[in-house]
Amino acid sequence: MAIERTFSIIKPDATRRNLTGAINAVIEKAGLRIVAQKRVRMTREQAETFYGVHRERPFFGELVETMTAGPVVVQVLEGENAIKTYRDVMGATNPANADAGTIRKEFALSVGENSAHGSDAPETAAIEIAQWFAGNEIVG
Ligand code: RTP
Ligand code: MG
Repeated sequence: MAIERTFSIIKPDATRRNLTGAINAVIEKAGLRIVAQKRVRMTREQAETFYGVHRERPFFGELVETMTAGPVVVQVLEGENAIKTYRDVMGATNPANADAGTIRKEFALSVGENSAHGSDAPETAAIEIAQWFAGNEIVG
């Protein structure tokens, strides 16, 4: 198995409810190492770029509103099969469909306020990490 890096966002619904530490505990318990982390407020332009793949979807406007509604914590996570491991730890996009013990089952409020983002493939992970972190901010 390969050591990978993935990009994570603790979304505004979670930072608003002081869940950063609780979500980080789930991440670390899953064997993922937080090798970079910072708390930022996304601008509208940054959110539109980040979720650009969804630009034509009916929920795009709501998605941008939700991601800019408050601070987020952006992170780089490292570990074996980190991309899939983190997707599994997050659970299904809609928390109603998420398995017990996953971040979205335990903490998410709705499909729109679903507490966490994780990259879906190596290519997107690399692009997303580069959007938010300089190389010297990632310490493995
Ligand atoms: P993410 O990118 O945030 O990790 O989530 P995901 O891969 O599980 O889901 P994706 O299809 O990429 O959708 C991105 C985010 O858009 C919101 N969404 N709303 N109202 C809706 O039907 C709907 N569908 C998606 C969610 O917040 C989702 O995380
Ligand atoms: Mg996605």
